[in-house]
Amino acid sequence: MLLKVAKSSVLLVLAASALHANAFTEQAEMDRKAIIKYFEDKFEDGEKNKDRFFPYSTDTELKGFVKGVKHNDFNIGSYAYNQSAKDQYLTFKDGMMPFEDAVEKGAQLYKKPFANGKSLADCFPDPTVSNEYPKFDETKKAVVSLTVAVNNCLTENGEKPWNTKKDDMASFQGFLGTKAAEAGKVVDVQINSKEAQDAYERGKKYYYSQRGYLKMSCATCHVQGAGQRVRNESMSPLLGQMTHWPVFRLKWDSLGTAERRMSGCIVDQGQKPPKDDSKQMQEMLYFMGYMSNGMKIDGPDLRK
Ligand code: HEC
Repeated sequence: MLLKVAKSSVLLVLAASALHANAFTEQAEMDRKAIIKYFEDKFEDGEKNKDRFFPYSTDTELKGFVKGVKHNDFNIGSYAYNQSAKDQYLTFKDGMMPFEDAVEKGAQLYKKPFANGKSLADCFPDPTVSNEYPKFDETKKAVVSLTVAVNNCLTENGEKPWNTKKDDMASFQGFLGTKAAEAGKVVDVQINSKEAQDAYERGKKYYYSQRGYLKMSCATCHVQGAGQRVRNESMSPLLGQMTHWPVFRLKWDSLGTAERRMSGCIVDQGQKPPKDDSKQMQEMLYFMGYMSNGMKIDGPDLRK
């Protein structure tokens, strides 16, 4: 009996530590661990790391950096390493957030009956699972982002799909994000097949590919460039870029999806963004989601 109990608890421990470890996640886990190490090293001490990581930053800027930023701390984007921005953000969070009405609207949309009597609640019976997206659909052999999953639910029930960047889509995702955060969920993107692994690799390739006449990749700004400024904005690290969607941007004066924000970045790179429901966009989200695995959901969030 005792032996049995001991055995099953050993199995449980193994299962927990192997949550993401299988034959198809070997490379992705190596990437994820390397990214965590890179950012923890980089933001261990900004002033000390000036020569190695921040040659273009001023001493005053680096003095304002948070020291010893650890893995999960990065789930609030660029606030993670900037002491005054972080303090401001945390104060804001304690008060009224400008997206509360939108999230309330999202809660109503969740239950609002479609013409056929069903609702989004039938497609998402557990509203706390946005942390599992993007998912790889093993039947369709394709990545499905949360945005596409929501629109699939609508169209499969005879409804019109929503704008993938804002309005109802963002409100509904705001509701799901709030529920996942309240439930203490962590990002849990799974790779369980060779096809899923290939999709992850293609998403990673997009993130690291230089494009346009500027020859920039997402990584130029969000890996090497993270912590530096561009147009008076501090660039966020790849690590934790998928923990907090949708985001209320003061510039938009509304909530927007991750696709909305990423499309803006791609336009800034001098490129035409892929469609939000395209394979390219969804596979990039899949890669970014995996990099945020294990980090606490903090959505929705507030940005400049
Ligand atoms: C020229 C630099 C630059 C490039 C290239 C760039 N971005 Fe950005 N990105 C920014 C800046 C500046 C912001 C606003 C500050 C920040 O990172 O939160 C931003 C914001 C973001 C955010 C929101 C982060 C948050 O916490 O709210 C995401 C996600 C993002 N970018 C993804 C991408 C992806 C994916 C690509 C490549 C397709 C890309 N970016 C390319 C500069 C860039």
